[in-house]
Amino acid sequence: MTYLPGREKHAWLRTRVMTITHEHPHFRIVDDFLDEDTWTAVWSDFQFTELHPVTRSTGAWKLDDGVPLGGQEVVASGAGADSAGSTNTPLDRVIAAVLADPSHYRGLIGEDWDRISARPYVYPRETGLSWHVDDHALYAGAFVYYAHPHWNAHWGGELLIAENDPETDAEEGALPIMGYRFETESYSERLLDVGCGSFVMPRPNRLVLLAGAPHMVARIVPAAGAAVRASISGFFLRPEHEQVADRDA
Ligand SMILES: [Fe+2]
Repeated sequence: MTYLPGREKHAWLRTRVMTITHEHPHFRIVDDFLDEDTWTAVWSDFQFTELHPVTRSTGAWKLDDGVPLGGQEVVASGAGADSAGSTNTPLDRVIAAVLADPSHYRGLIGEDWDRISARPYVYPRETGLSWHVDDHALYAGAFVYYAHPHWNAHWGGELLIAENDPETDAEEGALPIMGYRFETESYSERLLDVGCGSFVMPRPNRLVLLAGAPHMVARIVPAAGAAVRASISGFFLRPEHEQVADRDA
């Protein structure tokens, strides 16, 4: 086990038991998700794993989102925790932990998926991710795990999850995956229709499961200094033949 200064002050977490701490129709929170050794292994891996600037010209990235860092994505069979040992990295252990207890995702994430992905992300200060919806044709749901050893509630970085209006969705169609790259007004108008929702702080060792509502990552503020919001996020992937069918529909 790699020793990392700063972890010791969170020794109180060791005595806590993993439990679903919040239920919402759009998301679910499991705190104290990984055991201490696994959490340490995941955070240690962030020190060494290859990370590249997420300088996307597509996706939900917008001009004001800064440049987060991303690592290699892994995809595992969704058959169960035993199937998640293919890459020999701590990502396997996060996937295995998600799959180990179906109560983490059952009743929130649809049944229609057969693989699960995971990718490390690092959001330093002055970075974020704009409003978007994960592509329902590809993903039955998503998860994010916060691996950093410490967070301060004043540092930003919250996951914001919007309420949607079923009546508007029925009249105007489902909210598109994201706003246009520079023209964001029409997307903004749809979000402002309801204009409220929930937020989830990136509490260390927290797992969040997302069913598919619009969401964003609030910018990390300068007060975070050298601290980073380090997450492993991934998707419950729909079977590939059904993705084709969905897109044709
Ligand atoms: Fe997303």
